[in-house]
Amino acid sequence: MAIDLKTSSDFKENFSFGKIYFKKLIFPLIFVFLFHILFYDLSLATLFFVIVVLISFAVIIVTYLGSIRRKEINQIKDIIFKIRENKFNSPDEISLGKHLVELEGEIKSMFLRTQNDIQNLKKLEQVRTEFLGNVSHELRTPIFAIQGFIETLLNGAIDDKRVNRSFLEKAGIHTENLNNLLNDLIDISMIESGQMKMSFRYFGIAEFITGIIDEFTPLADEKGLEIRCGYIKPTLKIFGDRNRLKQVFVNLLQNAIKYTDTGYIEIICNEEGKLCNISIKDTGIGIPEVDLERIFERFYRVDKARSRAVGGTGLGLAIVKHILEAHSSKIEVKSEVNKGTEFSFKLKK
Ligand SMILES: Nc1ncnc2c1ncn2[C@@H]1O[C@H](COP(=O)(O)OP(=O)(O)O)[C@@H](O)[C@H]1O
Ligand SMILES: [Mg+2]
Repeated sequence: MAIDLKTSSDFKENFSFGKIYFKKLIFPLIFVFLFHILFYDLSLATLFFVIVVLISFAVIIVTYLGSIRRKEINQIKDIIFKIRENKFNSPDEISLGKHLVELEGEIKSMFLRTQNDIQNLKKLEQVRTEFLGNVSHELRTPIFAIQGFIETLLNGAIDDKRVNRSFLEKAGIHTENLNNLLNDLIDISMIESGQMKMSFRYFGIAEFITGIIDEFTPLADEKGLEIRCGYIKPTLKIFGDRNRLKQVFVNLLQNAIKYTDTGYIEIICNEEGKLCNISIKDTGIGIPEVDLERIFERFYRVDKARSRAVGGTGLGLAIVKHILEAHSSKIEVKSEVNKGTEFSFKLKK
């Protein structure tokens, strides 16, 4: 029996680690002791000797088991400490020996999970920082512009009839952009924090789309664009949140008008089994293929200057994507530069 008894404190430690086995040992020993009393006619001296032998035996066994337990627990402690201090690069560096294979497996999977969580947190932190940076930048642009116009007016332009009105109008446009940005930011944060309540109901899609087209016709007329709509059965009903879906249509129509210089915009609504496929098509500037998968990211614009000039916030499509996801739907886009763009999605009917 190789017992690690380098010092008396080592011995004490090993013994205290093995104490847990003491209870298990004491009963067999009491049994052996009683057996001796019952079957041998022992003298007091022999009895004392038997007691001393049994106790020594118990202490040696307990210390031996304690030393094994102590080694294992120290090994586990060491691994936990190293995980906490980030000293492992891969789970293969964690090893506990043959007897603790299962525990080793558990610790390895815990380590992997923690590593994953840490990576996700780092990513989230990066996204948050990026988002804050973007927000500040987006806020600064209209605020600086408004400040500039006000300063110029105060410095004398207010009395210059050729520019005073147009400077005020421009400041007004930037104020509107600022307001749009704040509204979109509120929407995005509500959606992403899960606070946006959805209320799903059946509603008539034909009358819904006609209403939206009526609202946008003046804007399209200004640019000489026509808004067309394919035939929709008057009784066709869609299941969804009417107000949120209106936001989807408004965003897509606004984009279609903003990014189209000539031609038309078309809304098509086709029944496909239990679903209704809706598409909003334009004959506008189109989106280059490399940008197609990124346009749904917050603040991503193909042409920042153009988007800002037409009052875009860069958040519209991110909001559209979120709202449609809440309807278990997915937005698709097809586009060809200088030919046009088509956004489509399916809704339950
Ligand atoms: N119908 C479209 N035609 C061409 N480009 C579009 C269209 N819709 C969106 N885009 C591009 O996708 C970008 C992101 O759209 P969106 O999130 O609505 O932001 P924005 O506020 O700039 O309109 C736009 O800046 C524009 O570059
Ligand atoms: Mg938009």
